[in-house]
Amino acid sequence: MKKVIAIDGPSGAGKSTIAKLVAKELGYKYLDTGALYRAVALNLVRLGVREDASDEELIPALEKTKVEFRKGMILLNGDDVSREIRSPEAGHYASVFSARKPVREHLMSVQRDAALHSDLVAEGRDMTTVVFPSAHMKFYLDASVEERARRRTLELSSRGFAIDADKIRLDIMERDARDSGRDLAPLKKADDAQVIDSTGLSVDNVFRKILDIIKKGP
Ligand code: DC
Repeated sequence: MKKVIAIDGPSGAGKSTIAKLVAKELGYKYLDTGALYRAVALNLVRLGVREDASDEELIPALEKTKVEFRKGMILLNGDDVSREIRSPEAGHYASVFSARKPVREHLMSVQRDAALHSDLVAEGRDMTTVVFPSAHMKFYLDASVEERARRRTLELSSRGFAIDADKIRLDIMERDARDSGRDLAPLKKADDAQVIDSTGLSVDNVFRKILDIIKKGP
């Protein structure tokens, strides 16, 4: 395995923005694992899998679900779904289906394989705890619910989605509870992760802070 910088944190904490900047600065590859869960969830919904489906229903549907990154796009069974996966609905279903064991197992190798040949900045919910427990550096990026809801609202409206700011805030709180409260690979701070609270900080501030820590080394 090559060098991995692992970043976890709740929805809207700014993980993708920061992870992309760090990856670019260091010349590492960037892995957005939320995009993988979103693409899988999109296909499960398309296949008519219900939120309360049994594992026996999930497994054959997952066999028809191939997700991969290519040239900055996320491909679902060969088709670019980079835009569709950004909808609030895709985020909701990703959060629901990601609590299921067959779904997490389905995505384990694609995530670990990403670090076989390239140094990696990987972000998600269980990068520091489950997927890359021996990562070179670990971060837990957090921010207040209000700040995360504000950022998510701006992000979704800039992508052209119709949004209701109050609903976004409720969605974030619901997602926090689901992603942190589940039995399998829940979102939590790893003992050896450095916590960065980005509330009130600019992107540049957070980026510099993380880069300084990385430069000092583990
Ligand atoms: O980071 P995001 O909002 O794109 O992630 C969407 C959902 O996917 C998130 O609510 C929980 C799930 N997820 C996960 O369970 N594990 C990861 N490593 C990444 C995302």
